[in-house]
Amino acid sequence: MIFDSHAHYDDQAFDGDREKVLTSLREHNVGTVVNVGASLKSTENTVRLTKKYSFIYGAAGVHPDEVGELTEERFAWLKEQCRQEKIVAVGETGLDYYWDREDHEVQKQWFVRQLRLAKELKKPVIVHSREAAADTMEILKQEHDTESLAVIHCYSYSSEMAREYLKMGYYLGIGGVITFKNARKLKETVQEAPLERLLLETDCPYLAPEPFRGKRNDSRYLSYVAEEVAGLKGVTAEEVIRITEENARAFYGISRGNKG
Ligand code: NI
Repeated sequence: MIFDSHAHYDDQAFDGDREKVLTSLREHNVGTVVNVGASLKSTENTVRLTKKYSFIYGAAGVHPDEVGELTEERFAWLKEQCRQEKIVAVGETGLDYYWDREDHEVQKQWFVRQLRLAKELKKPVIVHSREAAADTMEILKQEHDTESLAVIHCYSYSSEMAREYLKMGYYLGIGGVITFKNARKLKETVQEAPLERLLLETDCPYLAPEPFRGKRNDSRYLSYVAEEVAGLKGVTAEEVIRITEENARAFYGISRGNKG
């Protein structure tokens, strides 16, 4: 079944019908969802979702746009959330020079702190990086050791850089953008990368695939992403769904025995 490795169901875009959307996922072949924290509040709501729904797991982290809210005390709280039973990763964390909402030095500082937290807790990291390719690579290389595991979520850089990340043992998160006509660079990257290193993700409510581009996204639409990836790799969509589910389970450490 489809494994959505990166969703934001705590987002207010789902306030009107969250329950309805979430309970309908299974009949649309979506088996597991990792809801990703983007702020302290959203991490708190993520933990709540993991307690309410058996098939939802979570990540605890603060997005680079929101790191201004962090203090030592709040970071200690974040660390506590990482110890909750169904919190399987740290993130999303990283650098965002596109929206550029926080000072670059402040972004870097909290990115490094969250990477070290993941290392300490032996959890994988969900990396968000936008228009910050060089600095992201530099920090990850500095902080990386052989046990570090990360996914570059919503991968948007070159295939050369993807090769570098794959060499480091990382995964690439692939979502709705792959279906866009102008996504030539990303299509090349997906053609080159081993299927065993790709994770399917919605980043919902954002980034709905064609033919729903611009609308609210949710995990059901991942079937369109799987179709596109299948076409690029010359395999069936079923195979893409099966292999990316295995990948996501291995990445997050969620065995089949667990619910979802
Ligand atoms: Ni996200």
